[in-house]
Order: sequence, then structure tokens, then C-alpha cells
Amino acid sequence: MAKIKKAYFCQQCGYESPKWLGKCPACGEWNTFTEEIISKPAGTMTDIRQTSKPVKISDINIEEYNRIMLANNEMNRLLGGGLVAGSIALIGGEPGIGKSTLSLQIALNQPNLKTLYVSGEESASQIKLRAERLGSNSGSNCYILSETLLENILLQAKEINPDFIVIDSIQTIYTDKLDSSPGSVSQIRECAALLMRYAKESNTPVFVIGHITKDGSIAGPKILEHIVDVVLQFEGDNNYIYRLLRSMKNRFGSTDEIGIFEMTGTGLREVSNPSEVLITRHEESLSGCSVAAMIDGARSFLIETQALVSTAAYGTPQRSATGFDVRRLNMLLAVLEKRAGFRLAVKDVFLNIAGGIKVVDPAIDLAIVSSILSSTADIPISHDWCFAGEIGLSGEIRPVNRIVARVSEAEKLGFKKIFISKYNKKTPELSKFQIKIEYIGKIPELVEKLFTASNKS
Ligand code: TYD
Ligand code: MG
Repeated sequence: MAKIKKAYFCQQCGYESPKWLGKCPACGEWNTFTEEIISKPAGTMTDIRQTSKPVKISDINIEEYNRIMLANNEMNRLLGGGLVAGSIALIGGEPGIGKSTLSLQIALNQPNLKTLYVSGEESASQIKLRAERLGSNSGSNCYILSETLLENILLQAKEINPDFIVIDSIQTIYTDKLDSSPGSVSQIRECAALLMRYAKESNTPVFVIGHITKDGSIAGPKILEHIVDVVLQFEGDNNYIYRLLRSMKNRFGSTDEIGIFEMTGTGLREVSNPSEVLITRHEESLSGCSVAAMIDGARSFLIETQALVSTAAYGTPQRSATGFDVRRLNMLLAVLEKRAGFRLAVKDVFLNIAGGIKVVDPAIDLAIVSSILSSTADIPISHDWCFAGEIGLSGEIRPVNRIVARVSEAEKLGFKKIFISKYNKKTPELSKFQIKIEYIGKIPELVEKLFTASNKS
């Protein structure tokens, strides 16, 4: 029999202590400990019954996962080829980013599946309103339950026996086994464990939504990430329409995948060809714009970067970047100043990456530097040129990974010329492309190729 025990948990990081502490030794926060009930089996090693035996690895048969194909292709790809029966996935993201919208959309658009959408945040009629906004057809086999007590949720789930469940959100549901309030560490842990057991026993896939805190970690901390099979995280800026769904953990597939969605008036729309929306083909040439061939996860796409360089109006020049690390921008400016003789220390520099997408791929450096140079000189860069290269501190253009995928994407989209590092020259596959490849070694060569050589070639 399980025996009830109590412990103190840090509400910030989940640290467990047998007695109350003023300051958490793990995260250093003050006054974060609250008492929570935990149940621990009173068993010892000798009680453990042997149910499974070690098997030689060569004798194990690989079992095929039973996968359910969803109507959403981006989601299927993210999950590694469909939803695995009995799996539990966590969808994290900041408030308002679209977690509820996406999961409701998935629950509504499965004509052959009986789905259950449980909300602890909204009433059934609010959800119905949202569903109508999402253009749900009334033929949908989706059940809505507005409930926060987990025991009731599981009871209802056993009754209607759905093929797929969404729990929105883990922070709002609670189990009456514990005294602590919903959203506390022990409630989240216990609820997730109960949902996990339900998923495995009934072979039903479950989506659990979790809010994340400002610093980007899933609130009610990391404990959830260990329990679940799949962790998907929403990224993006609420002020822009694009959302990236990134796979952070996947027991049934690769974590390289990203899904790109566009928030429209009628829900999230899949963006299957991101390059087409992330670059604008301007009618007239504008200075300060250039296109980077970047890779995120397993996908390669082209994205536009824009820079504006102007004389500083005040003493201290301003540097601001959207979608790019401003410290890296400062580094690139210092390299341009030191290695190519551009007097940028007295200039304001503003940088913008299209679509509010955050880019960490270093291959975007070359496009950013080209945009800055183009804006400084006020000479536009031909709109059918693009760039992929990292910039080192001594002004050298360094090679980047997966160059073939980048060049191939640029060629597919009709670009005429791509600038890459000369150290990528060794890659034999590059010779098969029609697109003109400019190999460059240092920033001065880039300046020359951009401006002094004929800009029309
Ligand atoms: P929501 O999915 O509720 O976010 P989360 O569950 O992650 O907190 O809402 C996302 C935002 O999207 C919300 O501010 C309203 C907006 N929205 C649309 O633009 N179009 C739509 O069709 C819907 C349903 C919401
Ligand atoms: Mg929500």
C-alpha cells in the first residue's frame, strides 16, 4: 500500500527538500518552498517481483509503431510520420501564441477519429465560438469537455473512449489526491503521470498543453519534459503572423524537424514553402536588403534580411536587431570596421529579419553584412542574388554546413547567384548546379564583388 508522505518543493525549479527552506539551494530563489503531499510506495528492493528479464539485443524484434495520420501535414512531419498510439506529447509556448488554436484545429479536423478536447481555461461555448471561427464543419466527431478535475476527465474519457485527447492546459488541471493547488510542481507531476498511465493503458495519444514562462522554460518545470514522449515548442513573435513549432524531444522520430505556420483570421495555416513568404520580390531595387539561404532543423529556406545604416543623431549610436542577436550584430560591425575600413562606429544600425523569425544559424552573417554594406553605400543588391556564409573575427568567410541543400533551395527559387565561402569549394556536388556560385574568402572580396564588379551580371 502507498503511504502518504509530505515534502517541500521549490515552486521555481522543482527542488525537493524534507524540510522548509528560506532559500532554494538549487536556483537561489527566496521564499519559494511550499509543502506538498507526495505518496511513496513503502516497498524495498526485496519486494520487487521480477516481471521482465534481460534479452539479448539480437533477439529483440522491432515493433512497428501504430501511427495515426493527422489531417495536418506539418504536424505529421514534426511527430516523425504521424501520431503514435499511446504516446503523450507536450506542446509548450507563451500565452497567446496559438497552442489552443492549433490543438483545437487538429481535434476538429479528423473526420475519421473521435476526439476529445478538454479545456480547463475556457467554457464549452467559448470553445464552440472558436471552433466556428476555425471553420469547423458540424460533421466533426469532436467532443468538448470543460473540466479541471483530472479524475473526472479520465472518467469521461473512459466513457466515450476517444481516439485522441487534448488537455488544455496541464497548469489548470488537478487531482484530488493532492492538496496543493493546480499548477504546483507536485500537481503537474502527478497529473502528467496519471495521464501517461491512461495513454499507455488505453493506447490513446494525448496532447498536453503547457504554458512556458518568460525565460523560455516550461513552467511547472522541467519535470514534464522527462515524463512525456514528445516535446513540441511554439516560437514566434505575437506581433507577427508566423509561428515556428519546433520538436525538442521525440522518442519516435527526429528532433531536427520544424513546422511553420501562419496565423490567419481562421486559425493556423500550414506554410509548406516558407521561402515564398519570407522573401519579397521588390519591383524596384532597394538598398539594404539581401537574402540568406538558411537552415533550421532539417529545413532549408530563404529569408530576407534588411538593414538601415544612418548617421547617429545622438552621441551614442543605436544598434537594434529584430530576430537576430544584437551582440552578434555588434561583432559583425566591429569586423567591418576593423577588417574592411568602414566607419560604422558613428552610425545607427537597425537590422530586421523578415517575418519576426529568430535566426540562430550563423550562415546568415554574410547576408547581414551585405545588407549593412548595401545600406551604407546606398547601392541595392541585385534581387536575384543570395548569401550563405559565416563571418569570423578576422573577416574571413567561413564555410557552413549543408551547403548543397542551401544552394539547391536558392536554385529552385530562381536565384541567379549565390555567395558562399571559398572553403566550400571542395564539395563535389556543387558542380551540378546551374546557379552561379561566387566563392569568397574575405570581406574585402565581398565588397568588391558586390559593388565594383558590374552589378548586373
Ligand atoms: P490561443 O490559441 O488561445 O493561444 P494560447 O492557447 O497559446 O494561449 O490564441 C492565439 C491568438 O491567436 C489569440 O490572441 C487570437 C489569435 N487568433 C487568430 O488570429 N485567428 C484565429 O483564428 C484564432 C482562433 C485566434
Ligand atoms: Mg490557450
